Amino acid sequence: MTSFVLNSRVVHTEQPPGTVMLDFVRNASGLTGTKEACREGECGACSVLVGSPGPQGLVYRAVASCLLPLGDVQGCHVVTVEGLSEGPLTLVQEQILEHSASQCGFCTPGIVISLTGFCLSARSFSFQESQDALDGNLCRCTGYVAIRDAARALCERLEGVEPDPAVRVATLVEAGVLPPGFLEVPALLEGLENPQEPPVAGGAPPVLVAGGTDLFVQRPEELLEAPLEFLSRHRELDFIRVEGGVLKVGAAVTLEDFRLSEIVHRFFPSMREDLLLHSSTILRNRATLTGNIVNASPVGDVTIMLLALDASLEIRTRSGQTRRVPLSEFFQGYKQYDLAPGEWIVEIHLPLPPPGTRFNFEKVSNREILDIAAVSTAMRLILAPDGTIQDLRLSAGGVAPVPLLIRGLEGFRGRSPEGETAGLLARHAVEAISPISDIRGSATYKKLLMGQLVRAHLSAEVLS
Ligand SMILES: Cc1cc2nc3c(=O)[nH]c(=O)nc-3n(C[C@H](O)[C@H](O)[C@H](O)COP(=O)(O)OP(=O)(O)OC[C@H]3O[C@@H](n4cnc5c(N)ncnc54)[C@H](O)[C@@H]3O)c2cc1C
Ligand code: FES
Ligand code: FES
Repeated sequence: MTSFVLNSRVVHTEQPPGTVMLDFVRNASGLTGTKEACREGECGACSVLVGSPGPQGLVYRAVASCLLPLGDVQGCHVVTVEGLSEGPLTLVQEQILEHSASQCGFCTPGIVISLTGFCLSARSFSFQESQDALDGNLCRCTGYVAIRDAARALCERLEGVEPDPAVRVATLVEAGVLPPGFLEVPALLEGLENPQEPPVAGGAPPVLVAGGTDLFVQRPEELLEAPLEFLSRHRELDFIRVEGGVLKVGAAVTLEDFRLSEIVHRFFPSMREDLLLHSSTILRNRATLTGNIVNASPVGDVTIMLLALDASLEIRTRSGQTRRVPLSEFFQGYKQYDLAPGEWIVEIHLPLPPPGTRFNFEKVSNREILDIAAVSTAMRLILAPDGTIQDLRLSAGGVAPVPLLIRGLEGFRGRSPEGETAGLLARHAVEAISPISDIRGSATYKKLLMGQLVRAHLSAEVLS
């Protein structure tokens, strides 16, 4: 049984926990405002809001409902476009109407949800943040100018409104962004807390679902029948903290929470921009770092960054013991890795960057966002006080069967990072990779790219 609040009513359902929310709202609940198009997280037409209980009340995020399993919303508030349309037009809907930002209307519910999600989660009501929030929503007919105009007008209308998380829902109800019914939801959710699943005794372990953004694209039919375990129900794994010179990230942390974390920003400031190159907001609001690692794609963006940052993994075995594996030793072959059935990655550990550290990530794909890289690479460079290279780590994606850490860089220690070093490092990297020709480019093209991206790592901009 899964229990949650759908718009303004409590729902108890016996449907399999692997049923995706898109099917539940459209087929079982008759809420057809949520549109179905790609079913792969690519278009945003199916976006809904999910409010999960947090220390300061419900934390709302816009997510793709085609990849959201029912079992993940136990004790949460799910909002479809109908849930925003229970009275007069909301401020977001008004702006869409006034700026003629809808034509056939197929994308419009998703855009309304993403902009409302922006109002519910943005650090500031800036135009740029509103555009980032829309990065997962495609429109085939209106064109983006009118949609942008609507978003700009929304931000102007919210000028002076304080986005304080503690009172955000009440503030947005007052500003006309949310219907007043949102204020009743915490009372409706009482008693529907998020129970821990009992441990599974013997037999095959259940499929572990983190954000589901890979799993529910790859094998949705199988997951409808399979026993599932949801990482989101393990709140104890949703943390980011510094301990003993190490940044520790719990397995349940989403990419967007990681991207926006002030702690992460303090030590790895470029991550806030770098992670915008990973999928889109409606996916990053669900996808986790551990899911990116275990997905084991040779082009996993986060994995490439973490390799350069010398990450290690804390893995919990089925008997409850833990073991530590450097990420650079985790991958054993194409989609093969050091994880036995039933083992979980519970924490990712990142050594804090010492003074003199430079980090840079480069990704080239056909489209700037929402696309898999042809080649990606990350570099962590530690400069000694005299400006020479003290340590250098370089990773590369899309150029080998596994996410690759490029070895043999010890000879660069003590050199100046300027001058001929970039050329020598580029040559070393190109010789270390073995790309194949595929839809994203020929092997020759990928080698050329690799050389250029390594040069970019040592550009004056990165070194300064
Ligand atoms: C439209 C679209 C765009 C995408 N764009 C990008 C992109 O730009 N860059 C990119 O790198 N990826 C991209 N992806 C792939 C995917 O979103 C990411 O790999 C994401 O990080 C997966 O995380 P998740 O939490 O959703 O994983 P899930 O789908 O939940 O899980 C993936 C696998 O990891 C296992 N797993 C998850 N957590 C753990 C754990 N703690 N311990 C053990 N096993 C675990 C699961 O059992 C499963 O086998 C995209 C996907 C889509 C649908
Ligand atoms: S239907 Fe396209 S993102 Fe869900
Ligand atoms: S208005 Fe038709 S797809 Fe956007």
